[in-house]
Amino acid sequence: MTERDYSGPDSRRVQQMFAGIAHRYDFLNHFLSLSVDRRWRNAAARKVRDLAGPTPPTCLDLCSGTGDLAIALQQHLQTQIIASDFCHPMLTRARGKFGRSAIRVVEADALDLPFPNTSFDAVTMAFGLRNLEDPYRGLCEINRVLKPHGAAVILEFSKPVLPVFDQIFDFYFRAILPCLGGVISGDSTAYQYLPDSVRRFPDQEHVLELLRRAEFAETGYKNLSGGIAALHWGFAHKSPPNSGGE
Ligand SMILES: C[S@@+](CC[C@H](N)C(=O)[O-])C[C@H]1O[C@@H](n2cnc3c(N)ncnc32)[C@H](O)[C@@H]1O
Repeated sequence: MTERDYSGPDSRRVQQMFAGIAHRYDFLNHFLSLSVDRRWRNAAARKVRDLAGPTPPTCLDLCSGTGDLAIALQQHLQTQIIASDFCHPMLTRARGKFGRSAIRVVEADALDLPFPNTSFDAVTMAFGLRNLEDPYRGLCEINRVLKPHGAAVILEFSKPVLPVFDQIFDFYFRAILPCLGGVISGDSTAYQYLPDSVRRFPDQEHVLELLRRAEFAETGYKNLSGGIAALHWGFAHKSPPNSGGE
């Protein structure tokens, strides 16, 4: 599977699926990953700080779900954060967690954002790109709403690169995780979707190529936990591409 022939899942199906598991999403994330997911989000927040500095004026967290990356960003940076997602029940949980913090919530489709061009200094997305119906269009939208030289940081599951480890991970992801996730959430489809979508999703190099095609500059990536996840990043081009595609 290359980035050129990859097409993502149907948006409405994804929206309904996350609505159905929102009440168990956080618990299952931490339980099934043995809380490694927290370390990955902290790594993403630190990467934003490295690329955009400790005080970028504005930061947008897309596909924010229940808001854990937005909270990590708030802990690592002094910035005004907007958390955005198109799934109302996920955002309801995020709102509950944000409490009185200054994080703003905007319900919106990441493929058609309600923000003007060049609005943000940094845009993040954790475990969202794989869920977008059209990941290339999603990256173009990110580029569009970033200020010139604003930073994009994308955290996503990827392809393990260590021998043997990749087989152990594959066994856990295919055989154990769907059973546990299905029983605890009461939705076996959603936790079968997770390994299926990760398997279908392009590898590190192809995501990098997708970023470049969406006209990001100074792109790069770093494997996390031996490539189970990866952080990708890039800077917005001076003249953002049309978000409508090539
Ligand atoms: C796996 S969750 C990730 C949530 C959160 N970022 C995290 O780190 O836990 C994926 C999220 O992407 C959202 N999503 C998928 N497609 C979207 C779209 N087109 N627009 C906005 N949100 C979308 C889903 O609603 C879901 O909340």
